[in-house]
Amino acid sequence: MITAVGPVLTLRHPEPRDAAALFRHASDPLISRWFSWRYESEEDPKRWIASRPAAREAGEWLEWVVEHPEHGVVGMTGLSEPNLRDRRTVMGSWLGQAVWGTGVNVESKALLTRMAFEHCGFERVGAYASIENPRSQRALEKLGWQREGTLRAYHRHGDLARDVHLYSLLRDEWADGPLAQIEARVEGAPPAAFAAG
Ligand SMILES: CC(C)(COP(=O)(O)OP(=O)(O)OC[C@H]1O[C@@H](n2cnc3c(N)ncnc32)[C@H](O)[C@@H]1OP(=O)(O)O)[C@@H](O)C(=O)NCCC(=O)NCCS
Repeated sequence: MITAVGPVLTLRHPEPRDAAALFRHASDPLISRWFSWRYESEEDPKRWIASRPAAREAGEWLEWVVEHPEHGVVGMTGLSEPNLRDRRTVMGSWLGQAVWGTGVNVESKALLTRMAFEHCGFERVGAYASIENPRSQRALEKLGWQREGTLRAYHRHGDLARDVHLYSLLRDEWADGPLAQIEARVEGAPPAAFAAG
């Protein structure tokens, strides 16, 4: 278990009590439009939450809910594709529309990258953004992620194959950038599959 607390937000692993909030925010078609999953009922996030401990141990995903002191759980962020030898991973996230443009994106990425670089020991945090999702591209670029190129037909959504831009943020860039300026208190340690250094 590894958690991070910032000036406003807490990032903690999902728990069964989070299902209602995750469903409320992520059943918005504007959120799931960019993902291969879709929530039809609260049973979907319940099943997903129950499967997370095994996913963490297997090195599939290490995920946190983004918890706001007034609004409760407002989204998710996490790491996947860990490669311990090359010390790299990939991040992904979604936030409910209610908190878009409020700074939650910035602080949640600060907490996530603090854990990834300083506590998991990664040297590179990659990200994918659909070529049709300029908001997500800008949300990464303004925080220091560099666009490296375009991966063709990379994410399948049913019969549709989407091209994505590939981004990366390296440890030194992070340390010199805006995200490392945001205070974070981290407790616990990552599972072995996400411990790179
Ligand atoms: C991606 C996401 C987490 C970003 O959070 P956010 O709160 O919207 O991000 P921010 O407000 O910090 O940054 C978005 C930036 O994009 C800009 N923007 C918004 N619409 C835009 C558009 N059509 N074209 C270009 N830039 C745009 C905003 O002005 C802002 O930049 P600024 O702070 O310089 O003004 C959130 O929008 C989200 O969950 N989207 C749906 C799921 C998703 O796309 N996840 C990522 C999958 S790759």
